[in-house]
Amino acid sequence: MKIVRRIGELDLEGAIGLVPTMGALHAGHVSLFETARAENDVVVASLFVNPAQFDEQADLARYPRDEERDAEIAAAAGVDVLFAPAAEEIYPPGFATWVDPGPTGAEGDARPGHFRGVATVCLKLFNAIRPTRAYFGQKDAQQAIVVRRMVRNLDVGVDVRVLPTVRDEDGLALSSRNVLLSPSERERALGLPRALGRAIGADDPVAAARAALNGLDPDYVELLDLDGATVLAAAVRVGSIRLIDNVIVKGALP
Ligand code: PAJ
Repeated sequence: MKIVRRIGELDLEGAIGLVPTMGALHAGHVSLFETARAENDVVVASLFVNPAQFDEQADLARYPRDEERDAEIAAAAGVDVLFAPAAEEIYPPGFATWVDPGPTGAEGDARPGHFRGVATVCLKLFNAIRPTRAYFGQKDAQQAIVVRRMVRNLDVGVDVRVLPTVRDEDGLALSSRNVLLSPSERERALGLPRALGRAIGADDPVAAARAALNGLDPDYVELLDLDGATVLAAAVRVGSIRLIDNVIVKGALP
């Protein structure tokens, strides 16, 4: 696996599968790498903790970083190129052009500027790498919706693939931020997937999930349309850590 730090050093041919990540890789990322491996000639993973999408400085400062470990995980999953740029490579002095993602609802309202940062960095990665396909997780369902809409609206010409959420055995969705939870916080965090699970099949999924949240205080509990599938999404804070999760309540992922 080659590690590339500069856009000008990317020299790729054939069908390219791109998996954008912020590192602290786990089995959720690995499932995206493996699918990209199966569907493309070349697999590129990007590793960039994108400052533009953090609405809280403390969240950015404590975001887990371990490039050596990430490189080992990516190489073992069949990634050919790890694109790991410095912040100045993506946002050089004078950088001033942003993608306005339009209305983004729940997660966008809760984190002002977040999806503007996500949409901008994804478009930059798409332009730098020119992938045939780009892989995203259902875990961040609204992100997938925002990226798909941007690709459609701006004629980007990338096939955006969305893959199912990978969970731990206890049901907690894998997340880079899970390592920041204490054992007791982790136990409380399980209330989120349990509440969402209770809502599947309910007449009013939002009310059912809210009622089952077991004292967890949600930022939002909301139904979203993911290109035809109806997804129930929620965000909660456990201690100082904010967690999001969602389940499909109707239809299937396209
Ligand atoms: P990150 O949180 O590192 O996630 C990278 C990709 O992995 C995203 O598409 C996310 O939805 C997916 N993912 C995370 N946890 C998952 C899980 N448990 N199961 C399946 N997929 C999972 O999302 C980002 O980074 C950034 O916003 C990024 C798109 C890289 C732009 O900076």
